[in-house]
Amino acid sequence: MEKNTIPVITVDGPSGSGKGTICSLLAAELKWNLLDSGALYRLVAFGALKHQIDFTDTDKIADYARQLDIRFDVSEPNPETGATEVAVILEGEAVGDGIRTEECGNNASKVAAIPAVRAALLERQRQFLVPPGLIADGRDMGTVVFPEAKLKIYLTASAEERANRRFKQLKEKGIHATVGSLIREINERDERDMNRTVAPLEPAEDAHVVDTSSMPINEVIQRVLQLYRQVFK
Ligand code: DC
Repeated sequence: MEKNTIPVITVDGPSGSGKGTICSLLAAELKWNLLDSGALYRLVAFGALKHQIDFTDTDKIADYARQLDIRFDVSEPNPETGATEVAVILEGEAVGDGIRTEECGNNASKVAAIPAVRAALLERQRQFLVPPGLIADGRDMGTVVFPEAKLKIYLTASAEERANRRFKQLKEKGIHATVGSLIREINERDERDMNRTVAPLEPAEDAHVVDTSSMPINEVIQRVLQLYRQVFK
């Protein structure tokens, strides 16, 4: 299959809008591949810290992003649910939840504002486009990485709702946080992601904007699958 005929659904939006959950459910439902582009930026930030590269040294961070040694090991599907798990391996070592912390997300947002880092990761992201199709989760999937995608979704939700969701997730993991501090962090991250000069977070002109503030996950999935059927069938 030619690269440009492989179907892609891009799902962009701010942190906490439900992209991660929606994208993994969609990938399992359609049996398509999944690109978690945020994980790539998180890995650059995580590895830069490990190697003590200063975040203000943009040349060194970009060099590091260019030679990033990573692998995604996908588990066999769970026989009952069909769900797979992905182990992220950086320089031969599993990173586990190390890249999922709020701190790593904030650091990822900082390195993601460096144009040379974004350029370094562009081709790597496009390599995820293999048959039978791709669900691409990020901030600039529909605008920059896969502008030719036939179906583009932009998920959003109010900062309060996103902070509440994050609060619940953290509580389940036994991590202490307050909704007030999470709202502040979310606003700071939105501000950085939306106002950077290269590939800022914004809906593509042809994106379907879905506000998930008062929508349960199930409803969001149904809405996206309905769009999928309209576009691809
Ligand atoms: O989706 P996430 O929370 O894992 O992303 C972490 C940060 O990485 C996010 O705040 C901004 C950056 N990012 C980006 O700039 N472009 C992407 N396509 C994905 C993530």
